[in-house]
Amino acid sequence: MRKNIVAGNWKMNKTLQEGVQLAAEVRKQVEASGALKCEVVLAPPFIHLTEVCKVVAGSGIGVSAQNCAAETSGAYTGEVSAAMIQSIGCAYTLIGHSERRSYYGDTDQILSKKVKMALANGLKPIFCIGEVLAERESGIHFEVVKSQLEKGLFDLTTEEFQNIVLAYEPVWAIGTGKTASSAQAQEIHAFIRRTIELKYGAQVAQNTTILYGGSCNDANAAELFACPDVDGGLIGGASLVAEKFIKIAQAF
Ligand code: PGA
Repeated sequence: MRKNIVAGNWKMNKTLQEGVQLAAEVRKQVEASGALKCEVVLAPPFIHLTEVCKVVAGSGIGVSAQNCAAETSGAYTGEVSAAMIQSIGCAYTLIGHSERRSYYGDTDQILSKKVKMALANGLKPIFCIGEVLAERESGIHFEVVKSQLEKGLFDLTTEEFQNIVLAYEPVWAIGTGKTASSAQAQEIHAFIRRTIELKYGAQVAQNTTILYGGSCNDANAAELFACPDVDGGLIGGASLVAEKFIKIAQAF
């Protein structure tokens, strides 16, 4: 059985003090809500990670970086390595978020290196894929996500691939308030799973967690998560308020 995950991508928001407070609030509410049908993961900025790991220790809440370096170590000013991220207790790192792809030049080739670096250091990549509006409108969104999968992930072995979590995030839905409909999400999630099946087989495909991201909130999460191939969400804006975020985690 694949795991459901609701992950909060804080992006570049919150001071350290605010972040610690938010993580503590999330922990409190997770503990108060009893058994959830998903794993809750927090992805704060790098500088918060150590403290957030301490705040959620022993709660079952996972912690993720938002990015990791493509290189192992050395003269890479400003970069943070997968080994460093793993060393403070993170289990995950986002890789290939559309903002990294579009603003920071993270190409498919660089992302493929980052994925391997994360895996080699015991981190599970939450690998993000998704088309921009023009690609959706011209009907090539299936080819776009297929190409992102192939170039970013498909040189992994089956064993390595089993540590990948996917996040489908249509760029036109990120931060725009325009969510994909549940039919649109299900259609492309099923396509992603089929694409994985053709490469790695039915069992691996069935076990792969595929999250939806893009204006997912407490009002639309239940409908999205009810889709058979949607296994949770990668939540931006709505993860910055503990109460809203927890409602999303309770939407299963
Ligand atoms: P959003 O962001 O929920 O604010 O649309 C999602 C994401 O970029 O991961």
